[in-house]
Amino acid sequence: MSGTTGATYRERIDAVRTGLEACGAAVAVFGLSSNLRYLAGFTDEPGERLFLLIVPISGEPTMVVPALYLDQVQAHQPSGAIRSWADGEDPTDILRDIAAGLGRCTGRVLVDDTLWAGHLLAVQDALADRTFGLASDVMNPLRMCKASDEIAAMRRAGEIADLALEDALAEPIAGCTEIQLAGRLEAAMLDHGAAGIAFETLVASGPNSSLPHYRAGKRRIEDGDVVILDYGCRVDGYCSDISRTVACGEPPNEADRVHDAVRRAQWAARERVGIGVRAEEVDAAAREVLTTAGYGEQFVHRTGHGIGLDVHESPYIVGGNGEMLQEGMAFSIEPGAYLPGAFGVRIEDVVVVGAGGAVPMTEAPQDMRRVA
Ligand code: CO
Repeated sequence: MSGTTGATYRERIDAVRTGLEACGAAVAVFGLSSNLRYLAGFTDEPGERLFLLIVPISGEPTMVVPALYLDQVQAHQPSGAIRSWADGEDPTDILRDIAAGLGRCTGRVLVDDTLWAGHLLAVQDALADRTFGLASDVMNPLRMCKASDEIAAMRRAGEIADLALEDALAEPIAGCTEIQLAGRLEAAMLDHGAAGIAFETLVASGPNSSLPHYRAGKRRIEDGDVVILDYGCRVDGYCSDISRTVACGEPPNEADRVHDAVRRAQWAARERVGIGVRAEEVDAAAREVLTTAGYGEQFVHRTGHGIGLDVHESPYIVGGNGEMLQEGMAFSIEPGAYLPGAFGVRIEDVVVVGAGGAVPMTEAPQDMRRVA
């Protein structure tokens, strides 16, 4: 990612080694994933070709790279060795050779949580005498607390999301399909300099807004609809994620009451954020407001998720998570209330834990604005 130097990647690899030692493991294996981007500055959509970064507790890391990626990988000057293989060759020969060289690093092997099953089986075959665990044991603690350059990228991604809302709502939305409005938001984010969208944009109108994970379909937005917009973009690999609930014309009577309760819940959670506070306390703060307002049963999901190179990562703001918040942790606060068949409301901002509490990455007005 821009601004991140080879020295940073070497430090991160060292931190992986320290993490391996702390959890009694000997080797970490990564595929094409956000972890690879974090450790080597490069990633791509995972595919069938075997692509691995193998980090032993001592000695140099090795990358197993399909030959067609070689120039791209070398441009990032990753530390350690690169072993490339061409289409038509069997990369498991390389894997067995690397495994033979890992003899001194006895102990558990931690694998990338998203490694394709076929690649995992090849790794397990080459290291048949080992036991296996998940690399998140080492990577979550490293990635959860963001450094200042990571926060700067997230803030920029948030600013772009804020600007896109104004652009997308500058024109009437009545008569537009959900997919068309999603397209407007996405085009606006790219116009403002985003490297891409962070996830498929969600536009849920009318009764669809009562389905928390509805995406966007061909329904045309009508006068009187409540509309949830949930979207985000990427800057230097880092994600933004924002939800706003707006109305096309005048929404049902109860919508303002629900919106007010959700907004108060979101602020109660934001105000609860602080160093040393447990993640579940932030969830409880939002839940308490909605319960008091009579919408506790309609708040059917957790309050938030960590965010960074992945849209969803640790820490999760959910009941039962006793993890203590630390400075630099980034997560969404997104309470909602969903009235089946009628409408739903969600308000979401990503915040970063600072010394003085929650620092928002998005600041677009939260009111349920009326759009033509
Ligand atoms: Co979210």
